[in-house]
Amino acid sequence: MSLSDLIRDEIARRGPIPFRDFMELALYHPGHGYYASGRAAIGRAGDFFTNVSVGPLFGRLLARQFAEMWERLARPEPFVIVEQGAHRGDFAHDALTSLREFAPECFAAAEYHIVEPSAALAQTQRQRLAEFAKTAHWHGSVADLPPFIGVHFSNELLDAFPVHLVRWTGSQWLERHVEWRDGAFAFVDRAPGTTELRARLGALPPVPESCVTEINTAAMSSPSTTAFRARNTIVPSGPRERSPLTPRTAANPTRSRVPARSTSPRTSISPPSPNAPCNAASRSPASPINITSWPA
Ligand SMILES: C[S@@+](CC[C@H](N)C(=O)[O-])C[C@H]1O[C@@H](n2cnc3c(N)ncnc32)[C@H](O)[C@@H]1O
Repeated sequence: MSLSDLIRDEIARRGPIPFRDFMELALYHPGHGYYASGRAAIGRAGDFFTNVSVGPLFGRLLARQFAEMWERLARPEPFVIVEQGAHRGDFAHDALTSLREFAPECFAAAEYHIVEPSAALAQTQRQRLAEFAKTAHWHGSVADLPPFIGVHFSNELLDAFPVHLVRWTGSQWLERHVEWRDGAFAFVDRAPGTTELRARLGALPPVPESCVTEINTAAMSSPSTTAFRARNTIVPSGPRERSPLTPRTAANPTRSRVPARSTSPRTSISPPSPNAPCNAASRSPASPINITSWPA
């Protein structure tokens, strides 16, 4: 059975399905989904490319950040690096290779945990990371992670989550659904299907009539899930602000040369859980790390 047949069956059974569910099947159906079946072609010769898929430099740069975070967290052991959305494991391979070479003490303390719901991708990652078998661990979801001290990282994950498509009629929000009509998939608008979506829509500012936009409820709830697992964790890709780990001070002049619109990952420290043994944000900053000892 093809993916198209499968979605048509779902529509025949349930009636028009929210676009979110259509997107989830298209990307994440275990046998047919673009990502979950392992057939996504990411890279220069593929369907699109990412920082990770064009070479090892991104992983090497982030490895340097990870080593700095390890220092700033007072060298915890184990130092847990969680990656979500690891795809074929290329970033993990680049970062671990670099850490092993340029920050061997940090590498020795590191545990690399991949959150991967797709069995096919987890298998590909295990092969890619065979040489790091002692360091790498796998989990099916964030909820399976033990409490940890370290970094929770992902690249281009949140925009790969299925989204709700919604349209403002001028007087109300409707949710775009997909039906099978005249031999093709077609949009049909219905009342928003979930309480969470209705609440998100109620909080939106005014928009022009016929505005169609996306609501990514999974991405909105994801950081709080992360914070729940974290005891003392750095979550890259937070708000566009100077990292609390890299304050611009007279004692740390190299940071003042980082441009405000740098595209390097932004970092923020998640709120500690009630059982947190310590809070990195309240520690005095460690001395700046000599980043010049790392190759570009
Ligand atoms: C756009 S790709 C990015 C891959 C890689 N991080 C990169 O930068 O090249 C998005 C990846 O996120 C994965 N993904 C989507 N939802 C996920 C989830 N809930 N947990 C873990 N991975 C997920 C997909 O399977 C896919 O491999």
